[in-house]
Amino acid sequence: MTPVVMSLDPKNPYETEALVNQYMEFHYGDSYFGVENYPRRCADLCLQATAALPRRKALDLGCAVGRSTFELARFFDSAIGLDLSARFIGCANHLRLHRSLDYAKPIEGARTEQKRAELSPLGLDEASSRVDFAVADACELDRRYTDLDLIFAGNLLDRLYDPGRFLRSIQERLRPGGILVISSPYTWLEAFTPREKWLAGYAGSTGYVSTLEGMRRILTPGFQLAQPPVDVPFVIRETARKFQHSIAELSVWRRAQ
Ligand SMILES: C[S@@+](CC[C@H](N)C(=O)[O-])C[C@H]1O[C@@H](n2cnc3c(N)ncnc32)[C@H](O)[C@@H]1O
Repeated sequence: MTPVVMSLDPKNPYETEALVNQYMEFHYGDSYFGVENYPRRCADLCLQATAALPRRKALDLGCAVGRSTFELARFFDSAIGLDLSARFIGCANHLRLHRSLDYAKPIEGARTEQKRAELSPLGLDEASSRVDFAVADACELDRRYTDLDLIFAGNLLDRLYDPGRFLRSIQERLRPGGILVISSPYTWLEAFTPREKWLAGYAGSTGYVSTLEGMRRILTPGFQLAQPPVDVPFVIRETARKFQHSIAELSVWRRAQ
């Protein structure tokens, strides 16, 4: 197995101060334009999808600074958050251990506002004793991440260097009947994924293939789409006057018994 990348990669945008601050605000800060907190909304949809199942172990892949992992731990016996960014995992771990973390919310230019993320007002204090975070590559998962009841991959798919490999390897991690939830705005970019690895946008025998169809081709017959996909909007604040407003599609897949 390829060793897990443990060092801070200066070319990885998710290791930069700017994105740490952006994701701290995205996960623990204010809501904008009336759009609900995305990690919380996704975790709620994961909980709905697993309502009739045992909720022992959940895995949150590409967890960033950890909000959805904490949210899942409200209902699961344990929740593990994994991310390739050592810096993001450092923030998530700091929150787990100290229940709060300060960050700088950008206003304009070099001007920032000091903010504090706190678990307690979010009702996540108690859940924090059931989470674990680690640096890991979702395309090369260690064997210990197995026997899972839920895998959630939020806005991860189109940031992977090999999303097909990720999807092909994920089935064996879940218990039979376990649930895979994938949420993504399908923003394929060569900066993250070589074009030949994109799951969509290429011509198939019946026209252009969507990402949902690309996923279905890889995931079936081991998985079945458990319910119609839903849209989940999200807003990432860059500065006081610049925001990214995207609409992810969230699909729920059940592993065959
Ligand atoms: C667009 S962010 C989404 C983060 C979080 N799930 C959310 O919705 O806010 C993509 C995340 O995937 C992580 N990532 C990228 N490639 C990865 C890989 N191969 N394995 C694990 N995490 C990865 C990045 O470090 C980043 O935290």
